[in-house]
Amino acid sequence: MRLVMIGAGYVGLVSGACFADFGHDVICVDKIESKIEALRNGVIPIFEPGLQKIVEDNQNAGRLQFSTDIAAAVRDADVVFIAVGTPSRRGDGHADLSYVYAAAREIALAVTGFTVIVTKSTVPVGTGDEVERIIRETNPAADVAVVSNPEFLREGAAIADFKRPDRIVIGTEDARAIEVMREVYRPLYLNEAPLLFCERRTSELIKYAANAFLAMKITFINEIADLAERVGADVQKVAKGIGLDKRIGGKFLHAGPGYGGSCFPKDTVALVKTAQDYDSPVRLIEATVAVNDTRKRAMARKIVAACGGDVRGKKVAILGLTFKPNTDDMREAPSLAIIQALQDNGAIVHAYDPEGMAAAKELLPGTTFGKDAYEIAEGADALVLVTEWDEFRALDFRRLGNLMTSAVFVDLRNVYPVREVTRHGFIYHGVGRRNSGA
Ligand code: NAI
Repeated sequence: MRLVMIGAGYVGLVSGACFADFGHDVICVDKIESKIEALRNGVIPIFEPGLQKIVEDNQNAGRLQFSTDIAAAVRDADVVFIAVGTPSRRGDGHADLSYVYAAAREIALAVTGFTVIVTKSTVPVGTGDEVERIIRETNPAADVAVVSNPEFLREGAAIADFKRPDRIVIGTEDARAIEVMREVYRPLYLNEAPLLFCERRTSELIKYAANAFLAMKITFINEIADLAERVGADVQKVAKGIGLDKRIGGKFLHAGPGYGGSCFPKDTVALVKTAQDYDSPVRLIEATVAVNDTRKRAMARKIVAACGGDVRGKKVAILGLTFKPNTDDMREAPSLAIIQALQDNGAIVHAYDPEGMAAAKELLPGTTFGKDAYEIAEGADALVLVTEWDEFRALDFRRLGNLMTSAVFVDLRNVYPVREVTRHGFIYHGVGRRNSGA
């Protein structure tokens, strides 16, 4: 089949490359010329494990192309995926759908023959109706079906997630579109990934409900972590103890500095806004958003407390800046708010991240960046693990202790057993467990 992805970002590029890998002919279109030029030359604009190879292989096989010309790409397509950004709209927190609607207009002008238009971007309920209206208004002769097919991949594990999803959700009641979408996903279907067909509005809501539930689960364990600290319990063991119950499940029960990233923050707020518009508020999610918002600065207060209650003029070394490991994505990363709060308190912040520093340098102008954990630890009053990259899982605490001014380690991801750190003379502060110094 001939597929077009509009938007060559995290979702469009990964989906396009994976569809090509399944044997489809794919053109990824983006309006940013430099991005397309780079991709044509084999330069991948994002860090995502395994992506470079899959793009290269499929480019070489002639199944994956890159273009800035929407009209030419769409003309011969069987299926056009809209995978453009849907960020929070400045001011009110609703999803900004201007990129989706702009893409819909451009698609409408170019389609020929029966074409399935698929919204892969995360969009509020009713967006599919509006995309269809725009297409019919722009080109009344267009023969299209508008389908919702939200994406559930996780950055950092995007290729595996795309190729072996827990489920594929397809929102359409159009018989022709159902056949086309079955064909698009046939290779995954053979992988026994369940295809869930439903109404378009149901599909749109599934995506928001899924993200909101996961964000709520993270926030739940974070609040339990705070309580565990107060009552002298260990949240890691609480998470294990409840997670082994199959009705609860062990995933997304890791206490930490609060969720961030390109999806949960904007999607939870957008769901809250949609629900308010329909006079059907989702109060659990409203509380989730509020609790998570305050958590990042609370983590900064935890660091200040670990430094004896005052960080003015002290050097704090931050390990990990991206919102999670194995991505270069800095969108809404907890590190941003934590570092800002530390600097507001007078701290001198040095930081290192394996892949996020290019973006972080733009976002954190007052911060000094180093080449690894040991460089930034030199003369530091505290070392803080914010993002659990693998290379931070086996730190040499003996060496760190010799480099630092005071041996204080704040582990915001509970990566280390307390003993492993304290036996080298460090004071250990985790999340939701007893501090060694306490
Ligand atoms: P992104 O910002 O990385 O990529 C979007 C791309 O679309 C950009 O390269 C932009 O230049 C391009 N674009 C915008 N308007 C265009 C137009 N009219 N024509 C051609 N290209 C255009 O965004 P990302 O992260 O890939 O997200 C896309 C959508 O997928 C969002 O709705 C997001 O919520 C959703 N999503 C994202 C996931 C993630 O892990 N990043 C996971 C699941 C869903």
